[in-house]
Amino acid sequence: MYQFVDPPEIRKDKRLIWAATRSVWENMGYVLKKRGGKSKSHWNLFVRLLKIFAFLLRITGQYKKGYGNAKTIHNTEIELKFPNLPAAFNGFRILHLSDLHIDSLPGFTSLIIDKIKDLRFDICLLTGDYRIDASGSFSHMLKPIRILSKYIQAPFGTFAVLGNHDTYLMAQYGKESGMELLVNESVEIIKDGQKILITGTDDPFNFYTESALLCLETKGYDFKIAMIHTSELARAASEYKYDLYLCGHTHGGQICIKNGVPLISHQFEGKKFNHGLWKLGNMTGYTSRGAGVSGMPVRFNCPAEVTIIKLQTS
Ligand SMILES: [Fe+2]
Repeated sequence: MYQFVDPPEIRKDKRLIWAATRSVWENMGYVLKKRGGKSKSHWNLFVRLLKIFAFLLRITGQYKKGYGNAKTIHNTEIELKFPNLPAAFNGFRILHLSDLHIDSLPGFTSLIIDKIKDLRFDICLLTGDYRIDASGSFSHMLKPIRILSKYIQAPFGTFAVLGNHDTYLMAQYGKESGMELLVNESVEIIKDGQKILITGTDDPFNFYTESALLCLETKGYDFKIAMIHTSELARAASEYKYDLYLCGHTHGGQICIKNGVPLISHQFEGKKFNHGLWKLGNMTGYTSRGAGVSGMPVRFNCPAEVTIIKLQTS
């Protein structure tokens, strides 16, 4: 079972203020970055440049191969040991899904379902980016998300945060789509009388706010997980004694040269946050390569993934 840390009336007030703030940024087409200052989103310009790159891939015969790679999702399973993990959570299995971009490829919902339908997990954590576009319509997303959520059915719940491709308008459909959206909020997961804490923030890549930082100031828990679209709050989470930090956003680069080095990673925190496991102080982090694609429906040297993370005491 789970319960929110904040009482309903406090959550309601915080949500209203959050939605009002994010709606202004989205509707003005502005982004607010961690490194400071507001600016116009350059995503549409980036997509135009990608169209030139896609043309080059087509004339060199590489596009079809990259497209096939994008439709091939890998299962990743990792075990992580923590000395402070409450005993009741020994063996607890997290399904970590990130960057589904579920409308990025035809029939992609079925491809994801094929990869998760036989997996065993206790909880599902989704770290943002549910659609391919970074603005515009989202209603076409609801049906595939609801279909997918029928195959998730995690006993301890499904929790999601928004990414930079998502709109605040999606928040009202979270619960009826089978998931709890965490917007600068924390939930306690309770098992056999013991608790762990999960905190989820709004996307800090394009909508960086002090509210996201403040919600990480949590105390009184033996084990804490942060789920955030990007690695940008990792240093803050480590300072606030989080044990595990789950994120995505980079797609692992999506297009990498042979040794896995991305051409573009869309993150500025450092190379180690591009994909996979990393450490920051005592905190362990995992950056998912994501299941879907954005910008262009191809992958090279950077397979898509759905991830099972098994927590163990040590
Ligand atoms: Fe993404």
